[in-house]
Amino acid sequence: MTEPRIYLDNAATSWPKPPGVYQAVDDYQRNNGAAAGRGVHRSAQAAERIVSQCRKRIADLLGAQSPEQIVFTLNGTDSLNLALHGVLKTGDHVVTSVCEHNSGLRPLRHLADTQGITFDTVGCDREGFINPAEVRSAIRPHTRLIALTHASNVTGAIQPLAEVGEIAAEKHVLFLVDAAQSLGHFGVSAGKLGCHLLAAPGHKGLLGPLGTGFLYLAPGMQDELSAVRQGGTGTRSDDDHQPESLPDKYESGNLNVPGIAGLSAGLAWLTEAGIDKIAGHERDLTQQLLSQLSELPPVTIYGPRSVERRVGVVSFNVAGFDPQEVAAGLDAVAGIEVRSGLHCAPRMHQALGTSPAGTVRASIGPFTTGDDIDSLVAALRELSS
Ligand SMILES: Cc1ncc(COP(=O)(O)O)c(C=O)c1O
Repeated sequence: MTEPRIYLDNAATSWPKPPGVYQAVDDYQRNNGAAAGRGVHRSAQAAERIVSQCRKRIADLLGAQSPEQIVFTLNGTDSLNLALHGVLKTGDHVVTSVCEHNSGLRPLRHLADTQGITFDTVGCDREGFINPAEVRSAIRPHTRLIALTHASNVTGAIQPLAEVGEIAAEKHVLFLVDAAQSLGHFGVSAGKLGCHLLAAPGHKGLLGPLGTGFLYLAPGMQDELSAVRQGGTGTRSDDDHQPESLPDKYESGNLNVPGIAGLSAGLAWLTEAGIDKIAGHERDLTQQLLSQLSELPPVTIYGPRSVERRVGVVSFNVAGFDPQEVAAGLDAVAGIEVRSGLHCAPRMHQALGTSPAGTVRASIGPFTTGDDIDSLVAALRELSS
């Protein structure tokens, strides 16, 4: 028998998934199991349809003109690696921020160490918001890319990226958005953001299984983005050059069809439930959590207080306790699962003054309930008394 658990780690990966996600993975594995895009037998064709349908659902969600603008990857990190390694060349300059996850920062550091790219990092205010004017000021003649996180995985702050998109267009600089913590939590339009590339996992707000992710390319971006992997695509097999067409240019090797089947079901559930409704539910619970936490004297909350400008990722500390102790205590005492530490965003914690121990992070998903929040606050009250 499984022990009761209250899962508040949706920023790491969402759980539970909608029932249709489990069914779709199970159905594909048991009744199909064929490789997609390779073969004319009926199972291969059915697998290809699963992949195409998922691609279309993502394209629709983002308002992309064509499903081919969606390239499947392994996770959000893989999408960011494809974008950064594929776009940047020796001598290029990048503008990024202190709010980035290591999945963006480390490829940049690696490219700086090995390829001679340079990057500047804009700061944030006390609530974790970047200032678009600072992004503008950081642009130099050789700036090729602005790379920014849409919503912080530490503070939950939703960055004013549409303004940055306008700056990118005006300055003729490419714009990469890391949508790991925004997609599925509120409506996101690639066009409104003005981004050229958008990287996201499929296993967080989109409710798919682990091992899924994608990169969105704005029209024409395949001319700017090199493929970082080559191999079999099931197309033009007589040519030993990688195909230039989308999505084959970037999708070598067999796709994670069971994962994509689950992701497609997650997207169908999101559309059916309504993203605005989910956003409202998560905002209400975030408000409940922020209000109740602010009544606990030993607790310090980080990030925006206005739920209109944040997602349901809430970082806090309890005076006199290490964040790891709090997280372990919550699990031991009440089966409450939260994350503690630096959340792979070391510069964000330096900016908040919470380095090196970091914070405790509770993150809300569509299946979180008001009772879950009450239980977390009650357990924190007990732990800290
Ligand atoms: C802001 C942000 N970017 C990127 C990632 C990396 O995503 P993945 O775990 O799918 O590689 C995460 C994951 O926590 C994240 O929070």
